[in-house]
Amino acid sequence: MSFTLAGKKVSRLGIGTWRMGGAEQAETGNDAGYIDTLRFALELGVNIIDTAEMYGAGHTEELVGRVIKGMDRDSLCIITKVWPDHLRRRDVEASARASLKRLGTDYIDLYLIHWPNPQIDIRETVSALEELVDSGIIRHIGVSNFGVGDLGAAMAACKRYEIEANEIKYNMAERGCERDVIPFCERNGIRVIAYTPMAKGSVAGMRQLEPMSERIKKTPIQIALNYLMKRSIPIPKASSKEHWAEILGSVGWELDAKDYADLSAAQ
Ligand SMILES: NC(=O)c1ccc[n+]([C@@H]2O[C@H](COP(=O)([O-])OP(=O)(O)OC[C@H]3O[C@@H](n4cnc5c(N)ncnc54)[C@H](OP(=O)(O)O)[C@@H]3O)[C@@H](O)[C@H]2O)c1
Repeated sequence: MSFTLAGKKVSRLGIGTWRMGGAEQAETGNDAGYIDTLRFALELGVNIIDTAEMYGAGHTEELVGRVIKGMDRDSLCIITKVWPDHLRRRDVEASARASLKRLGTDYIDLYLIHWPNPQIDIRETVSALEELVDSGIIRHIGVSNFGVGDLGAAMAACKRYEIEANEIKYNMAERGCERDVIPFCERNGIRVIAYTPMAKGSVAGMRQLEPMSERIKKTPIQIALNYLMKRSIPIPKASSKEHWAEILGSVGWELDAKDYADLSAAQ
């Protein structure tokens, strides 16, 4: 089943890339392994890739660029993010252009403000982002880690375009956003992208999921991701094909209404 994000038909989940090619600093030791894994996920039909200028101090975007080189660009939905220190008008444009170069592409599908920065007027940042849409460098504007108040301010700052998505932490162990941010996004037509959707892999050992896992013959990871898909687009990160094979078993079926309600009601 596919649906749309940033004006494109996309898969039900995307590819996370944090720590592929380094965290705060670039690490090049496993480039070939990461490229191989990312290609594997793309070949199996995932077409959303989430990255950021901050990941690996830019090296993660370079890896993504190497992976997508030669692929049909329009079939891919590339998300990247501008760091909160770069939210002034001239910095936003410089960041976006640097990301384009590292990604080896001529547009970004969805460009997110990585975190809010209360020191910089959101109206200046949104105005700069709208200019980037006008010039074709980015196609859609989004945010990340925005609560309801920040979202309202970002929406009010939009003059010509709308906030397409809010990327937030959402997993089976951290579901507070189901009470406020997700309902707000749903009411306002803002897509929710779920980061850290496997709670850094720890959902694999969640005892609460074990009885259901045995009964419906899906692993805890597959149940957890399927649960999140009801209200978001999860972007799991995995460094091995084996992990991706398990993750992809979360797609193509749906928790029945009672199982979903039971998980939703659990504390
Ligand atoms: N916007 C933001 O502020 C923000 C913040 C954090 C993350 N993100 C995005 O969200 C993506 C995902 O979040 P995340 O990386 O924090 O956490 P995550 O996807 O919840 O978990 C990643 C961890 O799970 C492990 N894993 C993957 N598949 C597994 C499996 N089948 N069984 C057991 N463990 C498995 C991975 O190990 P291996 O690597 O060894 O496979 C990795 O250690 C990031 O990569 C990034 O793109 C965005």
